[in-house]
Amino acid sequence: MIEATGGLAELRRRVAGWRREGLRVGLVPTMGNLHAGHHALVRLARRHADRVIASVFVNPTQFGPGEDFARYPRTPEADAAGLGQAGCDLLWQPPVDTMYPLGTGAAVRMRVPGIAEVLEGAHRPGHFDGVCTVVARLFNQVQPDLAAFGRKDYQQLAVIRHLVADLAFPVELLAGDTVREADGLAMSSRNQYLAAGERAAAPQLYRSLQAMREASLAGAPRAAVEAAARERLEAAGFAVDYAVVRTPGLAEPADGAAGARVALVAARLGATRLIDNLEFTLPGG
Ligand code: PAF
Repeated sequence: MIEATGGLAELRRRVAGWRREGLRVGLVPTMGNLHAGHHALVRLARRHADRVIASVFVNPTQFGPGEDFARYPRTPEADAAGLGQAGCDLLWQPPVDTMYPLGTGAAVRMRVPGIAEVLEGAHRPGHFDGVCTVVARLFNQVQPDLAAFGRKDYQQLAVIRHLVADLAFPVELLAGDTVREADGLAMSSRNQYLAAGERAAAPQLYRSLQAMREASLAGAPRAAVEAAARERLEAAGFAVDYAVVRTPGLAEPADGAAGARVALVAARLGATRLIDNLEFTLPGG
């Protein structure tokens, strides 16, 4: 694997060269501190593209005041080694002044209404503005044919789908399945913040999602499903931001209606905020 150490000009030269050869280019945007979930995204992109670029950029504009931007784990050597093994061809690690040449204060921002304003958007105001702002820049810099994002960040994927559809980015989106630890905890760079006792409690997040799915399939009303999940998580020591069942578009479904559903939770163990989700289908009568 090579790194585009020559900056944006070198990145564009390489991508243009691949294009001239008729090769399809995939992008896996990341913030680094890569784990098996990211490596699976690289392998997914590899199956659909001839060349894969991974970006590593801890994006300041998607962190709110008091969030973990400064302490977000940065592990460049391990990231480069893992990406090479996963089949990545080129690493794009732009400095902040390449990503935001006029400074973050003067940066043109993207804002997706509606779907970006609920759940994560409500609890982390401005978060998805930052995500969309950097994803649009990455698409412009790399000009990929496809890009892979994880289903673990369910709402992020939905927001990026909206961004791509509305701005007509010629980028095919691929969704990678959530990769879990043996006890069900979804892999996340933030898991390493957990103290031993918190790590022991953390799998309750996935178990609560499974319980939400089972209760929904058994016909329990949505309000009861959500209240039981919140209670279960609080009993396990979580401070719950939300535990909800939604349609794929994140609307509140009517009780008794059939169709696709997603259970989503966001909760904190100590100072660490974790999110997870589980998709399922309620069969028709
Ligand atoms: O999912 C992430 O790691 C980030 O939100 C992304 C998509 C790389 C944008 O910074």
